[in-house]
Amino acid sequence: MKKKKKIGFSSRAVHIGHEPCPETGALVSPIYQTSTYTYENTEEAGKIFSGEKFGYLYGRDHSPTELQLEEKIASLENGEACKAFASGMAAISAVAFALLESGDHVICGDVVYGGTYGLFHKVMSKYDVEVTYVDTSNIENIEAAIRDNTKYLHIETPANPTLRLTDIKKTANLCKKHGIKLVVDNTFMTPYYQRPLDLGADIVVHSATKYMGGHGDLIAGVVVGSKEFIEEGLHEPVTKIGGLIAPFIAFLLKRGLQTLPVRMEKHSSNAIKVAKFLEGRPEFKKVIFPGLESHPQHLLAKEQMGGSFGALICVEVEGGLEAGRKLVDNLEMISLAVSLGDVGTLVQHPASMTHKSLPVEERIESGITDGLIRFSIGIEDPEDIIEDIEQALEKL
Ligand SMILES: Cc1ncc(COP(=O)(O)O)c(C=O)c1O
Repeated sequence: MKKKKKIGFSSRAVHIGHEPCPETGALVSPIYQTSTYTYENTEEAGKIFSGEKFGYLYGRDHSPTELQLEEKIASLENGEACKAFASGMAAISAVAFALLESGDHVICGDVVYGGTYGLFHKVMSKYDVEVTYVDTSNIENIEAAIRDNTKYLHIETPANPTLRLTDIKKTANLCKKHGIKLVVDNTFMTPYYQRPLDLGADIVVHSATKYMGGHGDLIAGVVVGSKEFIEEGLHEPVTKIGGLIAPFIAFLLKRGLQTLPVRMEKHSSNAIKVAKFLEGRPEFKKVIFPGLESHPQHLLAKEQMGGSFGALICVEVEGGLEAGRKLVDNLEMISLAVSLGDVGTLVQHPASMTHKSLPVEERIESGITDGLIRFSIGIEDPEDIIEDIEQALEKL
């Protein structure tokens, strides 16, 4: 890209990391599908290995395709640098291994992705790291949980499936006051709508499997933060644990990101239409969506979510487990699948699927009631999404 002046978000999404191939002039950069690199001679290799000269060492450390992707994502999140991983969980784990030592304490939102909960609860606990889960929508709960050995706070906002929000700016100020880092999982909003680093967070993580990739065809994760954290803090977790994104996946993700703004606009406008439709149906006890006035943090959502309310909607259908199953089983266009952020609308019924093996009381305590259904609204015609739900409701 020859243009040097600062360009807008959509232009950066399209152009950054998409330099033409220097050898052939191909408009789209090739995928550097290689595991290792060759050198002219030992002198040149020595300079690269000792860091005197920039060059590629080995596919677990770097690849040109991965570096192009990271430049794009750092720019979109307004961060200094980015590291891309083979999954969202690899990214979140690398941050934990970078920031925590044995004897440390970490605070985590009480409603977070199950894998993140498991990482702290089952993996980090083996290394004598303690975790406290708190409802981070109330800042007093966070302050009360901070200890002398607390290293960081991990939050998701909105949190899934309650779609409860955490005030990023206030939370970042509190963390600064206590000298702890704030890590925000920005998967559900993407940098198009929410940029936590601008609000004072230290580190942003994503499951890029979702909206960033956007097409349900890859698994990836990213971490964005200061150059120092990405290059030094994450160096050991990246090179010793492994888990760097593969070149082909980096290519797919880079391509998916070029259309992030247009996809997010459509996800978002569709979700508002679908949420309003759902709210008007008598079959639902509850419709949870930050864009509805009934959402307890609707005002914060308007301030913090960049003019969107995301595209996840949770409903609680009257009639419990059976009604929940029947409704999702009768959908025709909408796919019954876990994950989210795909171009197609996805639905899942946690009580009979992802959370089926949990003891009922534990499941209900974590907000997964029998009739809870989660929709990830896609970019189809909104009338077709609504019509599909309507025909399934008629069969209840
Ligand atoms: C909010 C959030 N963070 C992290 C993850 C983990 O990402 P991945 O599945 O790419 O490892 C998920 C997966 O669903 C998620 O929803």
